[in-house]
Amino acid sequence: MKLHPIELSSEKKAQCLANGPKIAFLVTIALLFLTLIPLYYPLPGYASFQFSSSSSQKVSSPTHSSTDDGDSKVVTSDRECDIFTGEWVPNPKAPYYTNATCWAIHDHQNCMKYGRPDLGFMKWRWKPKACELPIFNPFQFLEILRGKSLAFVGDSISRNQMQSLICLLSRVMYPVDVSYTQDEYFKRWHYPTYNFTLATFWTPYLVKAKEADPNGPPRTGLFNVYLDEFNEEWTPQIEQFDYVIISAGIWFSRPTMYYEKGQLKGCYYCFKENVTDLSMYYGYRRAFRTAFKAINSLPNYKGLTFLRTFSPEHFENGLWNQGGNCLRTKPFMSNETQLEGRGLELYMIQMEEFNIAEREGRKRGLHHRLLDTTQATLLRPDGHPSSYGHWPNEKVTLYNDCVHWCLPGPIDGWNDFLLEMLKGEGRKSFPARLHTSNRS
Ligand SMILES: *[C@@H]1O[C@H](CO)[C@@H](O)[C@H](O)[C@H]1NC(C)=O
Ligand SMILES: *[C@@H]1O[C@H](CO)[C@@H](O)[C@H](O)[C@H]1NC(C)=O
Ligand SMILES: *[C@@H]1O[C@H](CO)[C@@H](O)[C@H](O)[C@H]1NC(C)=O
Ligand SMILES: *[C@@H]1O[C@H](CO)[C@@H](O)[C@H](O)[C@H]1NC(C)=O
Repeated sequence: MKLHPIELSSEKKAQCLANGPKIAFLVTIALLFLTLIPLYYPLPGYASFQFSSSSSQKVSSPTHSSTDDGDSKVVTSDRECDIFTGEWVPNPKAPYYTNATCWAIHDHQNCMKYGRPDLGFMKWRWKPKACELPIFNPFQFLEILRGKSLAFVGDSISRNQMQSLICLLSRVMYPVDVSYTQDEYFKRWHYPTYNFTLATFWTPYLVKAKEADPNGPPRTGLFNVYLDEFNEEWTPQIEQFDYVIISAGIWFSRPTMYYEKGQLKGCYYCFKENVTDLSMYYGYRRAFRTAFKAINSLPNYKGLTFLRTFSPEHFENGLWNQGGNCLRTKPFMSNETQLEGRGLELYMIQMEEFNIAEREGRKRGLHHRLLDTTQATLLRPDGHPSSYGHWPNEKVTLYNDCVHWCLPGPIDGWNDFLLEMLKGEGRKSFPARLHTSNRS
């Protein structure tokens, strides 16, 4: 049984180990969230220049260069657009589904059901600086994915995006459940008219991981993570998929025992004598490296791999377990906040590991894309469930959820990005197709 840390109920929490790991968990999460209190500085613009050749989704032919003074910029022609840099603008037409028209919304993200009073957070769309990002068109999406398959690989935020996608597509049709297991963490859906298959694979650490003490009290919060071992629950399964979206985040802030070459290498916040202290960044970097290595080494995999970047949390006025909450009802403008601290560090690690993976993949004709949602998501402190992910009297560990996303809500925009990128792939492959057909 696997649970997201913040899905632990309080009774379960009481079963936690008496001292070390529990405290460690609180401390680490606390540290993580502490770094996310917004400060008011202009964005440095790193998201738009770093690794621009692979990270920016270009709407048209890219013609960018960088200066070598360490402060490189994309030189933007008017035919090119970085869709990930922009602002949220009002959209009175949203939302495009509700909790009444879509059954796929996870209960803890069904903010309408739990009486969230302000529904203004649904009424925004992402406006890239230099172009328009079309609102998700479900007909177009299904047409592009006709006869194809798409897998989400990750944790509960990954599932959050998949459920958003099912809801956005529900204007056309609902999928049929064709799961091969009863396990809710490994769902498979099929859209018969389009022969489109959608799947979700639960792997919050991306690599092989086990609870440290399977015979001990359940969900102690301490996991053994085998940083150099593929996770067999998803790696062989994705071989047949045309598109794979991987992501990871908050689980790396839990106490973790890190293994490499089968040996205990050290730990993050385990408070065990004689065990080397390692940072969460150590684990995060290696987990991504191993996950990408797994993907790049699958002999029959021909899919396009997306890295969906880090999803920021928005606790303010306290830590997650000390009354911290997310009560804003409007997005930030890009000049009002910036990614920093842990969020920035995790994001940078993703960029670096993505670039390594991209280079390695290219050697055997595999492509990787960056679904670079972090900046747009950072600007949405208003889109979390807060206390509207459960009934007021319900005992839940994360009373104010400033981690996941209400549906409908901001991460519907992640699927706007996804569709735009898939359309971009079509544009890219058109000359290639012409070329191939000329030769045949
Ligand atoms: C949907 O939200 C409404 C409030 O807007 C609530 O009364 C209803 O129970 C919810 N329905 C479901 C199926 O969650
Ligand atoms: C449906 O798509 C799969 C690939 O996802 C393909 O193998 C299969 O032949 C397709 N079925 C039909 C009936 O077109
Ligand atoms: C830690 O290492 C020291 C020195 O090697 C040893 O004396 C001690 O017993 C070890 N403690 C544990 C819990 O293994
Ligand atoms: C952000 O920019 C807007 C207009 O672009 C301006 O009105 C606002 O004062 C700026 N906010 C900050 C904190 O600089």
